Amino acid sequence: MMMRKLCIFQCFIVCSFLFAVLVSSKYHGNPANDIVDIINRNRTAAKLSHLSDSAGLGCMALQFVNFCKGNCTSNNTVNCNPSSDNFTEIFAPDCGVELPTFDTITGQIVACQPEYLEPTEAFSRALIPDKKTLSLLRNKSHTEVGVGMVGVHKGPFFWCVLFSSGKTNSTFVLENHGLGIRQKRGCFSGSSVECSRGHSNGAFWNNEELRANLKEHCMLRSFLLYNLPF
Ligand SMILES: *[C@@H]1O[C@H](CO)[C@@H](O)[C@H](O)[C@H]1NC(C)=O
Ligand SMILES: *[C@@H]1O[C@H](CO)[C@@H](O)[C@H](O)[C@H]1NC(C)=O
Ligand SMILES: *[C@@H]1O[C@H](CO)[C@@H](O)[C@H](O)[C@H]1NC(C)=O
Ligand SMILES: *[C@@H]1O[C@H](CO)[C@@H](O)[C@H](O)[C@H]1NC(C)=O
Ligand SMILES: *[C@@H]1O[C@H](CO)[C@@H](O)[C@H](O)[C@H]1NC(C)=O
Ligand SMILES: *[C@@H]1O[C@H](CO)[C@@H](O)[C@H](O)[C@H]1NC(C)=O
Repeated sequence: MMMRKLCIFQCFIVCSFLFAVLVSSKYHGNPANDIVDIINRNRTAAKLSHLSDSAGLGCMALQFVNFCKGNCTSNNTVNCNPSSDNFTEIFAPDCGVELPTFDTITGQIVACQPEYLEPTEAFSRALIPDKKTLSLLRNKSHTEVGVGMVGVHKGPFFWCVLFSSGKTNSTFVLENHGLGIRQKRGCFSGSSVECSRGHSNGAFWNNEELRANLKEHCMLRSFLLYNLPF
């Protein structure tokens, strides 16, 4: 009996450990937050102000790329220009951004590539490849930033950076105590939600997948705990 107890206990430990390894090898946090850090490092190196990371703005950047998902050209530019009405009528409501807190967008950079790029590559090759985009990044009017990204299954990968001159922490406020509306696909900066890299080519990101994995883990855990003989 003692041996059996010990065996079940060991199995529980091993399973928990394996799961932890699986999670840490498969999910590397949120690369949209990494891009925000790279943007801020680039600005502060040029003695410009640090931009605050706005989840509301980040979520709208994700809506922007979702809206433009069909428009990656052969030279890797995004041929898509949503109107300001599209921002207030589609992007903000789909995120749960409280409309009275919507503020001025002072810049947008949108890019696509045939495949997923790591944050440093995405920054230098896709988002800030030239002087024009660098000067947009280094504009003194910006106070806040948000980054959104999404991949099309078996298709290109999209990134968007939105800048605003809004007052930090009181603009682009997300309803539901800052959680906003849960997004099914892609990811954005300023949120604590990690992104799933999904398939190894990174072209397909899906938060649902992460949730399903976590659920499975919890069921396994409760099964084991429930069946422990002590
Ligand atoms: C990219 O392609 C579009 C049309 O597909 C064209 O309008 C644009 O000028 C091209 N941009 C560059 C930088 O070549
Ligand atoms: C995408 O490109 C097509 C063809 O150029 C254009 O008709 C369409 O309006 C574009 N979509 C968006 C959302 O701008
Ligand atoms: C986006 O805005 C344009 C111009 O305001 C409008 O014609 C179009 O219907 C909007 N798109 C959607 C999906 O609402
Ligand atoms: C900075 O951004 C503001 C707001 O979009 C714009 O009016 C201004 O011309 C930009 N400044 C430079 C130097 O590009
Ligand atoms: C800022 O980004 C630009 C464009 O990628 C790059 O050329 C420059 O070296 C960067 N500056 C710093 C300090 O990283
Ligand atoms: C915004 O909120 C963050 C986190 O709550 C806080 O650390 C920061 O000081 C706030 N910034 C301003 C300008 O209020």
